[in-house]
Amino acid sequence: MDGKWTCDEDILCGVNKPKKKDNPTDLEKKHMPIIDAPEKVKKDEPFEIKIEVGKLLAHPNEPAHFIEWIELYCGDTFLARANYSGGVSYGQASFKVKLSHAHGPLRAWEKCNLHGLWENSKEISVG
Ligand SMILES: [Fe+2]
Repeated sequence: MDGKWTCDEDILCGVNKPKKKDNPTDLEKKHMPIIDAPEKVKKDEPFEIKIEVGKLLAHPNEPAHFIEWIELYCGDTFLARANYSGGVSYGQASFKVKLSHAHGPLRAWEKCNLHGLWENSKEISVG
């Protein structure tokens, strides 16, 4: 090292995303929050967004290793958050929201107590 800190290989530094989205590793499959939402919604009409961690490959759910929380954003605008206890509840969330306009793509963040912060996104349009 030349004195400069790099977090490219440190999963606890920054926000993790699959390095190859079409060929994720097992670690990436276990932690990617998968967003299930319509591609297009009507302005100010409520709709449901489901987020599931471990959909591609099951993530452990035990007191020592679990999903701590899931957050939902539209662009950089915070919409909702779900908190979980290890060994009790699974990293799945369902939120009912309404949007007056799109601030950017839907973005889900999830936090694993051992493997850090992970992000996924899905485009949405509001009309
Ligand atoms: Fe994990």
